[in-house]
Amino acid sequence: MKKQINIEIEVYEKLDELTDIEQRLVKEAKSIAKQAYAPHSKFYVGAALLLNNGEIVSGNNQENAAYPSGICAERTAIFYANAQFPEQAIKTLAVAVYRNGEYAENPVTPCGSCRQVMLEAENRYQTPMRVIMTGEKQIYVANSVKDLLPLSFDSID
Ligand code: THU
Repeated sequence: MKKQINIEIEVYEKLDELTDIEQRLVKEAKSIAKQAYAPHSKFYVGAALLLNNGEIVSGNNQENAAYPSGICAERTAIFYANAQFPEQAIKTLAVAVYRNGEYAENPVTPCGSCRQVMLEAENRYQTPMRVIMTGEKQIYVANSVKDLLPLSFDSID
């Protein structure tokens, strides 16, 4: 049989299928999404991280009139965590979107730049990051950033 490299994404229909701490992260991501600075896209994203020491850190997207100067929620949260707690692996990341006055129905999936940054955090701490991509209808969960960025470039071999 042909050999294959497969990616694995868990799909959940209800938030209560996740653990208590994961549900807490999702709530935090949803809550901080509403505080995003997104006057240009009106797409309000929140990300919440669980660190190895139990600390929860969150962030949201910060836009700018000069578009590329803005930054996504995931990177705001990760860079803040890495700045404040450089020794702590990121065990879990939850992301959520609020737009048009409601939370998105479909799971929000991180952009390519965020995936690259998430992968480096995973490699840096040699700890797989569980990624919870929330939607009101469905929740996607990856057990490693490698499932979101397969065949990634890695300068360390
Ligand atoms: N955005 C995030 O913060 N995270 C994502 O996963 C997708 C996109 C932001 C970037 C920009 O401020 C707005 O959402 C619209 O793309």
